Amino acid sequence: MATKAIILPFLSIICLFGCNITPNKESKMEKKIVIAHRGASGYLPEHTLEAKAMAHAMNADFIEQDVVLSKDDVPIVIHDIYLDDVTDVASKFSERKRKDNRYYVIDFTFNELQTLKVTERFNPKTGQQVYKNRFPKWKASFRLHSLQEEIELIQGLNASTGKNIGIYPEIKAPEFHQKEGKKISEIVLKILSDYGYHSKKDNCILQCFDAKELQRIRKELKSELFLMQLIEFPEETKHLDFFATYADGIGPWYTQILDKKVEGRWQFTDLVAEAHQLGLKVHPYTFRADALGEFTSFEKMVHTLLIDAEVDGVFTDFPDLVLKFLEKQNHEF
Ligand code: G3P
Ligand code: CA
Repeated sequence: MATKAIILPFLSIICLFGCNITPNKESKMEKKIVIAHRGASGYLPEHTLEAKAMAHAMNADFIEQDVVLSKDDVPIVIHDIYLDDVTDVASKFSERKRKDNRYYVIDFTFNELQTLKVTERFNPKTGQQVYKNRFPKWKASFRLHSLQEEIELIQGLNASTGKNIGIYPEIKAPEFHQKEGKKISEIVLKILSDYGYHSKKDNCILQCFDAKELQRIRKELKSELFLMQLIEFPEETKHLDFFATYADGIGPWYTQILDKKVEGRWQFTDLVAEAHQLGLKVHPYTFRADALGEFTSFEKMVHTLLIDAEVDGVFTDFPDLVLKFLEKQNHEF
């Protein structure tokens, strides 16, 4: 006890100088957390190792990995089951598209995927960059990578900087993988376990949109990790009681928390209060400084959700801006 009393203030002083050492998972989850959505993707092409290294340097609490399997069962860190909106697959392997004109990660081996150039997200039909003021399309040189490579990068940076930044993998499209004869959850859980992520204390939060699969991960595959149930559609918010039987939190779209504006102030739905009553953390997505929705500034957006609506953390493409906001808040109180 006495040792803890001496060490904790010491760690806080270190944190003032840019490190983010957190002694264990529980203490990290007690504060509001910043999740680097696809890395520092507001500044570098999403899900590149460069975007992850930048997010680590910014001191995000967690760095996100969306995971899809290759033909040879290598978990690739990429947002979609498709390749053609972030790579040059259409020019390198033009004959490998499916009938729907899309190119699928699952149709390529890891070696083939590593030959592709990665770029800032664009619309494959028009070629237009989605976020116009972000990193310019096709500039510099970026590649796809595996989940293992990314974990090694984050754990390596944790070792070399003394930080304790967590990972936040998402199992993408489990039903699609199953139809293709692939066991994505089993493969991902094995890798997480190989790298030391077993329990809720291990600085890893596992997320999935598919409730059936996330429940299976807890009940059948016996995972003891911190599990987040992602929510896509508003009607799913009615199932919090069910989610609480296997998950530790929910990840809704932030608009599901907003109700209406009364005299210039946002009123909120019951989602956060009900989730908290069930002991569920709430981490809404996605906070983008260049896609503000109904807000007039990023600061107002973050304040409304993180402070007024009392969510527990946010997925953001701009982790530096949310961290700066939180630092300012801490100084004001
Ligand atoms: O996983 C949280 C957030 O990333 C969900 O949206 O579509 O960016 O994976 P998406
Ligand atoms: Ca995601």
